[in-house]
Amino acid sequence: MSVQTIVPAAGAGTRLKSEKPKALVDLGGKPLLVRTLLRLQKAGIAEDVIVLAPPDNLDLFQEVLEGAGLDFRWRLVPGGSERQISVSRGIEALPSHVEWVVIHDAARPFVPVNCIHQALEAARAVGAATVAIPCTDTILVADSDCFLVETPERKHLWACQTPQVFRVDIIVEAHRWATEHRFLATDDATLVRSLGNPVRLVMGSTLNFKITTPTDLLMAGLLIERGFV
Ligand code: C5P
Repeated sequence: MSVQTIVPAAGAGTRLKSEKPKALVDLGGKPLLVRTLLRLQKAGIAEDVIVLAPPDNLDLFQEVLEGAGLDFRWRLVPGGSERQISVSRGIEALPSHVEWVVIHDAARPFVPVNCIHQALEAARAVGAATVAIPCTDTILVADSDCFLVETPERKHLWACQTPQVFRVDIIVEAHRWATEHRFLATDDATLVRSLGNPVRLVMGSTLNFKITTPTDLLMAGLLIERGFV
């Protein structure tokens, strides 16, 4: 089974209020992106990894990754203005022999190795899978004036995480369709489902949170310091 991993890392980090591109912020002495790549390596799926980087910072990313002592092959590809566009560019860069694609956010450095393996196994059975966790908060749908519109029943709600795993023809077709229909989503499983394909949910972890805000970064640093991850 030929598996290729795509790591979208082209986010600007505006919500993190960081001067550096988000994927390169320091997390306990290592850049966030390097921590995430090392986690993928530990899971045995880091081989010829495609990393989407901000187009105007390719040299800096190249320098950081070359200096990180990673013992697997990686390639930098310029990302786009939205996550979906970045992932699309990664898909276009896939070699032709690839059968399965793992997409994992650079901003999720603590993904448990067993979640990655379970997502691969579930995808192998139905063609597509995503890691997710059941929502513990009640989710409110509001209008643009911040008035409550409706409250979906919590027992059906899951918070989406990555990795997401797809058979290559399924994800290629989903991105082609999304581009053609100008459909934009914040994850890739949604594109696949929009075409009617089944997507299996696999239990994620609260440790697999996405580093988005300064508080997330602070909590991530504390988890490393206390030896929780
Ligand atoms: O923006 P969001 O928090 O959804 O980002 C999730 C992941 O997608 C991050 O790892 C980020 O670097 C990446 N991303 C990207 N290209 C963008 C925006 C986000 O590769 N234009």
